[in-house]
Amino acid sequence: MNKEVLIFSAMLLPWLVSAQQLRSLSPDIERRIDSLLQIMTIEEKLGQLNQVGPRWNSETEEPERSYQGDLVRRGRIGSFLYLVGAEATRKVQRIAVEESRLKIPLLFGHDVIHGFKTTFPIPLALSCSWNPELVESTARVAAVEATAGGINWTFAPMVDIARDPRWGRIAEGAGEDPYLGSVMAEAQVRGFQGTDLRQRDALLACAKHFAVYGGAESGRDYNTVDFSERTIRDVYLPPFKAAVEAGVGTLMSAFNEIGGVPSTGSKWLMTDVLREEWKFNGFVVSDYAAVEQLMNHGVASSREEAGVLALNAGMDMDMVDTIYTNELIATAKAGKLNIKAVDESVRRVLRVKFAIGLFDDPYRNCDTTIAAPVFMKKEHHALARRAAQESIVLLKNEKGILPLAKKLKTIAVLGPLADNRIEWCGPWAGRVEEGNFTSVLDAVRSKVESGTEVLFDKGCEVIGDSGYNPSLAVGFAKQSQVAVVVVGENANMSGEAASRSNIDLPGKQKDLVKAICETGTPVVLVLMNGRPLTIAWEAEHVAAIVEAWFLGVGSGNAVADVLFGDSNPSGKLSVTFPRIIGQIPIYYNHKNTGRPIREADKFTSKYLDVSNTPLYPFGFGLSYTTFEYSNLRLSSPEISMNQELMVRVDVTNTGKRDGDEIVQLYVRDNVGSVTRPVRELKGFEKTGLKAGEKKTVGFTLRPEDLAFHNIEMKQAAEPGKFTVYVGGSSVDGLETEFELK
Ligand code: GLC
Repeated sequence: MNKEVLIFSAMLLPWLVSAQQLRSLSPDIERRIDSLLQIMTIEEKLGQLNQVGPRWNSETEEPERSYQGDLVRRGRIGSFLYLVGAEATRKVQRIAVEESRLKIPLLFGHDVIHGFKTTFPIPLALSCSWNPELVESTARVAAVEATAGGINWTFAPMVDIARDPRWGRIAEGAGEDPYLGSVMAEAQVRGFQGTDLRQRDALLACAKHFAVYGGAESGRDYNTVDFSERTIRDVYLPPFKAAVEAGVGTLMSAFNEIGGVPSTGSKWLMTDVLREEWKFNGFVVSDYAAVEQLMNHGVASSREEAGVLALNAGMDMDMVDTIYTNELIATAKAGKLNIKAVDESVRRVLRVKFAIGLFDDPYRNCDTTIAAPVFMKKEHHALARRAAQESIVLLKNEKGILPLAKKLKTIAVLGPLADNRIEWCGPWAGRVEEGNFTSVLDAVRSKVESGTEVLFDKGCEVIGDSGYNPSLAVGFAKQSQVAVVVVGENANMSGEAASRSNIDLPGKQKDLVKAICETGTPVVLVLMNGRPLTIAWEAEHVAAIVEAWFLGVGSGNAVADVLFGDSNPSGKLSVTFPRIIGQIPIYYNHKNTGRPIREADKFTSKYLDVSNTPLYPFGFGLSYTTFEYSNLRLSSPEISMNQELMVRVDVTNTGKRDGDEIVQLYVRDNVGSVTRPVRELKGFEKTGLKAGEKKTVGFTLRPEDLAFHNIEMKQAAEPGKFTVYVGGSSVDGLETEFELK
């Protein structure tokens, strides 16, 4: 084995250990779990499967004297969510490990989605960096901060594939592609959990929402999902499987039904797929009150029936509706509960608590002396700024208006989000304080050279018609060489329960942009949003578009870094921008259909009133330099089922600035036993190139990379011809062919 491979495997080894920790617990731990199960009462067993939110008033009451404090003492609670702070969790953990009969420690879970004290870009933004190492680093910092803040479990990563931007939770995931989504899922699990689950700063991760939550009909949150098993297995499940293979300790079951069976009561999902096929041996927590909601779904006529259905399906821990710890005790005492299923769920929960070292050190995250120095580390903010820079996608840059000169006579910074701070953190922002980061306006003011006048006006609010007063903004634009207009959504317009039936710029923002464009001053549009927006008019009339998503604490500085060229944008879209809402769902890896579009032929698959193409496609993003692809070549025109194919391409930076290019490898399976997408992402590499530099970028394609669920619903690659595409987006690049024999 050569040195490079040795070094690589040495680097990889810790992750392999961590990924296997749950699978390879010592026999001693399994024996300790056996002995606990033998002496636990049914109340204590179902207590381990009960997760609640704190119900005492932490201002006036001490948990010790609270009703829940007593439940902990009696072993009736296994985990809290939303209880944060080393001091608060220490008090409750003490009751569990010093006053209860069996002294089983508690898990403390919280939504640490994109940062704890240091808020990073939302996951959709981070996925546009196509930089798994960066994503892993942000998750690692989130873990360091959260575990210093009393928490040992996060309800992240959210790995739901989303193809419908009306759905607000598209903000929380990694976009529309299973391959990129899988890479980002692995990176976040590694980042959160670290190389050893027993480390004090290891944060137990939770891949959610299992499964197909992003497939909600009409993009309406919590709505019905109904896809074929093949689509579920080839599109929606891969990121969950990747998280399991990366060693994730828990999953969260989803609210939605799939084809008539609610995920939270689906034995197929949580037992057949998750345990029997994937051999997952962590545990599954339900989403918030999702067990009780089985009654709304109409598959249970009582709380008890809902609890029995979920437990028998393999859903282990009941989040907040307390069915397991109440109704199911009576069911058990009436001899009607499957105690084997109870024991199996309790075993999984105890296994995870042992695996993260809680029995050895239950107070590992309850040390108040750790928090302060960890929370405000400068390097965390520096990472946040770099992550924000790499998450920005340059969608338009007419006549190279960007980057702006730092010495201008006058620049107008306009729009309702230009001087905003807190909205930039987006949904699930964690515990950020408004004061500790810079707005775009402040950052522009500090970036420009003296003598450059910066004029600011909001012009309107983000939502609603009130406060619409464009005259000052228009006046400032007229006086300026350029107008930077910062518009978009409020943080609460994406995330959970935030579906939008109209994804234009909300309120009077579009009118404001139009009024400013009419002045003739070039407009640089800076978008702050949690989803793709329908901005076809804006795209036609402004000079440049900077897609800045919700970038967290690094927002203002990162946007100014890009606007003035101190950072060369390299982000690429992880999700398609539709031209109009009527195209949705629109995504790059679509099927060809029996009548693929031909403009000249009416009877082919197209609209009367809009093109089939998106406004901006998956994988697209501009740079301040340009890149040229050449000399695409394969190691062989054909490979057998046990051979690998090397794909190589030359990439040249043909511009005047250094820059990063995300080189993307797509494949099309030209003929299969079932229909296959016109393109599928199978690899990518973010490559730094100096001005004028040429590099060869290589990929290895293995037959298993070409596998899909065939006509027998078996995952396998099939012999035949394949087309290979390599380029800077899902719609361009060089192509060639090979045959799999
Ligand atoms: C919410 C969300 C889920 C979150 C959980 C706990 O309803 O669906 O993503 O982790 O409840 O806050």
